Amino acid sequence: MFGFSVSHTTRAPRGMEKDGVHYHFTKKNVLIWGALFFACCVHGNVLIGERASHKELARTAQIRLVSSHQEVYEPCDDSFALVDALLADRSNLLEHHPSLCMEIGCGSGYVITSLALILGQEGRGVNYIATDINPHAVEVTRETMEAHGVGAELVITDIAAGLEERLAGLVDIMVVNPPYVPTPEDEVGVEGITSSWAGGENGRSVIDRILPVADRLLSEKGWLYMVTLTANNPSEICHQMRKKGYASRIVVQRSTEEESLHIIKFWRDFDTKGDEPDQSASGFIGSLLTQIPLLSFWRGTNSDNKC
Ligand SMILES: C[S@@+](CC[C@H](N)C(=O)[O-])C[C@H]1O[C@@H](n2cnc3c(N)ncnc32)[C@H](O)[C@@H]1O
Repeated sequence: MFGFSVSHTTRAPRGMEKDGVHYHFTKKNVLIWGALFFACCVHGNVLIGERASHKELARTAQIRLVSSHQEVYEPCDDSFALVDALLADRSNLLEHHPSLCMEIGCGSGYVITSLALILGQEGRGVNYIATDINPHAVEVTRETMEAHGVGAELVITDIAAGLEERLAGLVDIMVVNPPYVPTPEDEVGVEGITSSWAGGENGRSVIDRILPVADRLLSEKGWLYMVTLTANNPSEICHQMRKKGYASRIVVQRSTEEESLHIIKFWRDFDTKGDEPDQSASGFIGSLLTQIPLLSFWRGTNSDNKC
């Protein structure tokens, strides 16, 4: 006799997924979102490796759910992994002295609010801008930011349409948790919550439109932190960006029961432009990634995790 159990997840159902059949879709009836919550409650596990200070974690973990909307993506494993990546890189972010930080696809505002809190007092004078194609998301982000005493220019737009001329070469930090789930192409960009995850073929439709925009908007010292899934072929994304002159590093890699997420950091590396990608190295890293156990967490600026 065969038996199986249905896992719990805190994310919303996607496509045809049914509660109790594919997953138990657990609503987060808590007032606190955050990386710490994710680590302790979802996986019942502790993050491995060096962490940001408890004080810093406590501040970002206490982003309150002040507003929500059924059509807006609630912070989930991928959002928490992205904020963990920012926390892991906090000292570098502070030394970087960004003037303009941008989020594409801000959803609830959890990530951009966390970034503003991570930069904190030291980041006084930093400007923030966030976009989302979903007007409800922009409204929820506004309320989330206001409740935490931070602000941003919020724009309802497709990626950064209408902003590119003004922001070209000015963005020092860009954060993106894109719709990355492989879906039929006709689900991409439709109204409502589906556009939060629907990524088209290999989950790359929106990602592949964001990358050239990021290249145009990032400053000379600009950094991009982006969430990807194994199915998106992250090493191929790194190769594409390498051709544009970017080096890359995986800051966080995290495997849940359903997906393996990589948070990749890109920065301009003036030595790499036009270099032929090293297929053997990326192939090795790609295969290594699939073997890394649950909740790996890295920190540092060494090249060990270059992709
Ligand atoms: C996976 S959710 C991430 C939300 C939030 N950043 C987080 O991490 O919790 C992706 C977000 O991107 C937005 N989005 C999808 N396509 C977009 C596009 N073409 N331009 C701007 N935003 C888009 C969705 O509305 C959604 O809010």
